Amino acid sequence: MSAERTVLPQNVPPAEKVVLAEKLAQFSEHWSPRIVGELNGQHVKLVKFVGEFVWHHHDHEDELFLVVSGSFEMQFRDRTVPLREGEFLIVPRGVEHRPVAAEEVSVLLFEPAGTVNTGSAGGARTVPNPERL
Ligand code: NI
Repeated sequence: MSAERTVLPQNVPPAEKVVLAEKLAQFSEHWSPRIVGELNGQHVKLVKFVGEFVWHHHDHEDELFLVVSGSFEMQFRDRTVPLREGEFLIVPRGVEHRPVAAEEVSVLLFEPAGTVNTGSAGGARTVPNPERL
């Protein structure tokens, strides 16, 4: 009789859960994403914002926006998509978009590492190297 053995991968840090509320409590700036996870070349980020962002697009990245708390509207050139808590939207690469929030909203982003928040637009709101929490 041969015993089944569980093989554990070497040099892999243990999986730890991420508590979104704890991460969100660590910052208050608007339009300044924080990196809270990484997998398969993608970053999981958290961002808070209120008001209007800049119109922009991303040449090579699709971006996922998941509302953690609050609500906002994603504006496209030809339509607007309202998003509430528990809803997400994927903005395809190349498509111009602008998030707008009447009141503060907390959003989880999932996008390739290196995706810059202002994409094609650049400017003062660009955060080239988001902080890791
Ligand atoms: Ni974008």
